[in-house]
Amino acid sequence: MADQFDPQRFTVIDHPLVRHKLHILRDKSTGTKQFRELVTELAIFEGYEAMRDFPLEDVEVETPLETTTCKRLAGKKVAIIPILRAGLGMVDGILELVPSARVGHVGMYRDPVTHEPHQYYCKFPDDIENRTCLIVDPMLATGGSLTAAIQFLREAGVKDVRALTLVSAPEGVRAVLDFDPDVRLYTCALDRCLNEHAYILPGLGDAGDRIYGTK
Ligand code: URA
Repeated sequence: MADQFDPQRFTVIDHPLVRHKLHILRDKSTGTKQFRELVTELAIFEGYEAMRDFPLEDVEVETPLETTTCKRLAGKKVAIIPILRAGLGMVDGILELVPSARVGHVGMYRDPVTHEPHQYYCKFPDDIENRTCLIVDPMLATGGSLTAAIQFLREAGVKDVRALTLVSAPEGVRAVLDFDPDVRLYTCALDRCLNEHAYILPGLGDAGDRIYGTK
């Protein structure tokens, strides 16, 4: 199913450990603590993949035996942009990989009737336009929240925008890729479709409620 989308811009993280963790995440009997831990672990796998093309530069290192030339990251600066509230669950995983990243926030809620996104909060680091921005949100359903977040970042002058979701619906992937010709999208699973309430099938339910133990 993933081959209907441009492979340069859309990546499904296809790894046995990701598939294994996802089956536990989807299970309705999985409790809050384990759910939260799995979201963090999956965010690490996904962040690893989303930063695969980061540029490197040479650096001389003296080992205990001799001097050698190694590689280090060539100063790419990162901002993590969680879409509140469920996106917060993925932040710690990405920070494990890039501890110096800044974190900006976009607060959105979905109108329960129209399913349209409404923004109630937006705060980015001052130098956001110079950073690679990783938007994180576990569920890509209609794409409304994610396209809005991408738009805020583009308006702020950000050139490199990547979106990381855990479970995506084809409708949302199409909406996001059509909305922005340059955004890159990563997900752990491409699910079947949305239901009439814009929930992903088979999905995992409401990610925010499952991360925070609310209902
Ligand atoms: N948001 C969720 O948390 N779950 C869905 O299935 C869709 C949107």
